Amino acid sequence: GHATAALVADMVVDVADFPKTGVLFKDLTPLFADGKAFRGVIDAIVAQYAGQFDVVVGVEARGFVLAAAVAYAAGTGVVAVRKAGKLPRVAHAATYALEYGTATLEISEAAFTPGQRVLVVDDVLATGGTADATLDLVQRAGGELAGFVVLIELGFLGGRERLGERPVHALLRI
Ligand code: PRP
Ligand code: MG
Repeated sequence: GHATAALVADMVVDVADFPKTGVLFKDLTPLFADGKAFRGVIDAIVAQYAGQFDVVVGVEARGFVLAAAVAYAAGTGVVAVRKAGKLPRVAHAATYALEYGTATLEISEAAFTPGQRVLVVDDVLATGGTADATLDLVQRAGGELAGFVVLIELGFLGGRERLGERPVHALLRI
C-alpha cells in the first residue's frame, strides 16, 4: 500500500551517472541496511502473497537478499536463478539481450517439485530482460507462477509491457 511505497521511496538513493554517464541508478542498499525498512518491505511482500506460494525464486545477485528473507519469513524454501556458469546441474538456460551483447540466466534441475507455486522476487524492474528470462525459466522448470514482485518498477523502460500477461507487482512504480 501507500505506506510501503513511501518506505521504499524514502530509502532509495538516486545516484547520477552510474554505472555509466546518463543513467540515474536506484540504489537500494540503504533500505537493505536498515533493519526496520528491510523488515517492512519483506513483511509487506509476505502479507500480499500469503497462502499463494510454496517456494520463492531470487535472481542473482540483488534478488537473493530479498528472496531469502521472504522465504524465511513465510517458512518456504528458496531457489536461486543464477548467472551462467555457477550452477552444477543446469536444467534450463535463458539468454536475453543487453545494450551491448547478451546475458544468460540458469536454473537447476533441483528447482521445483511438480505444481509448486512460485513467487519470484527482485529489487528492480527496468527493461524487463532479467524478469522475462527468469519467468521463462520458472515455467520451463515446471513451476506455477504465483507472482513476480519488485521493490521498484521503472515504468518508463517498459518492463511490464515486455512481460505481457504475467502477474507483476511493484511496491513502488516510478
Ligand atoms: C539489475 C537489477 C535487476 C535487473 C533489472 O540486476 O537487480 O535484476 O538489473 O534490469 P532489467 O529489467 O533491465 O533486466 P543486474 O543484472 O544489473 O545485477 P545484480 O547482480 O547486481 O542483481
Ligand atoms: Mg539483479
